[in-house]
Order: sequence, then C-alpha cells, then structure tokens
Amino acid sequence: MRELVFVKLGGSVITDKNQPETARPEVIRRLAEEVARALRAQPELRLVLGHGSGSFGHAVAQRYGTRQGVRNDAQWRGFVEVAAAAARLNRIVADTFLAAGVPVWSLQPSASAWCRDGQLMLLATTQVDQALSQKLVPLLYGDVALDDRMGGTIISTEQIFVHLARRLHPDRIILVGAVDGVFERDPTRDPTARRVPRISPATWSMVRSLVGGSHAPDVTGGMLSKVEEMIGLVQELPNLTVHLISGEREGALERALQQPEDIAVGGTLIHW
Ligand code: IPE
Repeated sequence: MRELVFVKLGGSVITDKNQPETARPEVIRRLAEEVARALRAQPELRLVLGHGSGSFGHAVAQRYGTRQGVRNDAQWRGFVEVAAAAARLNRIVADTFLAAGVPVWSLQPSASAWCRDGQLMLLATTQVDQALSQKLVPLLYGDVALDDRMGGTIISTEQIFVHLARRLHPDRIILVGAVDGVFERDPTRDPTARRVPRISPATWSMVRSLVGGSHAPDVTGGMLSKVEEMIGLVQELPNLTVHLISGEREGALERALQQPEDIAVGGTLIHW
C-alpha cells in the first residue's frame, strides 16, 4: 500500500501571529515547493494537507469566545466571521500550492463537521477518500463547527487529523510549526532550551512537566495540547509516527517527507 502522510502547516509558521490577518506568502510558497519536490521524487506518496489559522481565525475567535460556544446573535455573527477569516487564509494556501504544482483540493471542514461538547464526532470523508484515489491532495484547515451542546465551536487541524486518522490509518503525521519540535523550555524566549528528540507514551509524563504553552493567542491550546493529542493517537494507532518540525528551517519539510526516520532532520518524533 502506498504510504499515507498527513501534513499540517501550523498557523504560527504560515501567518504572522502578531499582525492581524497577515499571511507569510514567501514561507507558504517555499513550503509548497518543498511538498512539490517531495511528490515528484515519490509520486506514489498519498498526502493529506491541513493548515492552521494563525492571525486569521484565532483573533476573531478569541474576541467572540467561539471555542467556548455560540449562543447569542452576536456570537453567531462571530462564528461566520471566524469561518470567513479561516477560509481567506485557505484560499491563499490553496492557490499557492496549486501554482507550485501540488494538486490540492480545498475541502471546507465546517460544511460537514459536527461536534459534541467540542469533540469532533462527524466529518465527511468521502471527498478525502476520492481525492486520494485520484492522486489529488485534499486540503483541510482549522475551522468553525456546529456543536449539538454548545451551538458552535472551533475545531483545530489536529482534531481533524485525529478524526481522519482513525478512519484512514496514516503511516505518518508531520506537524510543521514555528519551532523545531518540543523543547524543554520556550526556545523563542530561552535559546539554551534543549530539544526533546523523541517522545513516547512512556516518557510523556516526564516531558510534559517541562513543556510550556504557546505564547500568541491560540484558542485551540498551543504546543502542550497538540502533543497530548498526538500521544493519545499513537496509543490508539501504534504504527503511526508523528513528526514535529520547524517550517522556518529551509528543506526540513522536504526531508521529513523523504527521510522519515532521519533524526538529523531535527524536530521531535512521537511514536509508540
Ligand atoms: C484553529 O485551527 C482554527 C481557528 C481558530 C479558526 P488550528 O488550531 O489548527 O490553527 P493554528 O495552527 O493553531 O493556527
């Protein structure tokens, strides 16, 4: 069976998290070219792409408290504002990847997502399956979602990946962020902070006490909750490897796609 890899481009790398609605077009273009080269080198690779919202969705979501529920008219207005902001970034990402030769098909998660108390229960997978069998690259993103207890909420790309992973059993998930994996302290504040090259469910409780939260507005939880989610997922799917890498380091994504177990790629591997 052809290898199946999920790749998330974190909002903190494809946007400037400190400027409202500001994409980083040159970074998105470079990452698109890295993916295009990896696909040319391994035409059999099956890829699902996702991206975060960074300075597009998070600020609006925080203003309306969308993650915590959508109950009144003003919050429903906020709900569609968040959806629109997330989709505006998605358009930029989709067009940039298409221009680089990656055949992405943008799928709007909120068109089919349904949550219960913030947990993603349903998401259409037919389009993802079909895209993969036609050698297209389905492209999803952190979005709003209906919730049968809270009215509405926000779903992160990681939640979408967890949901899809339970059905599609990817071999690998690569999470591309602003920092090179998990560090004992915040490396943007403390340059002497050491990288944690590998984490398994057995070592996680020790590592967790060292890892901090993310520092820009992040309504979906930052690094700690991302790692926690991925630890849970490798416990469910022991053949899965999750690789956290930096999108700032040129060539890191391309290498991670082509040389999965090469620890010199940097970052942090999460595995059983
Ligand atoms: C957040 O998605 C979605 C919205 C705020 C609309 P993610 O959690 O996947 O995004 P990043 O990577 O943290 O920006």
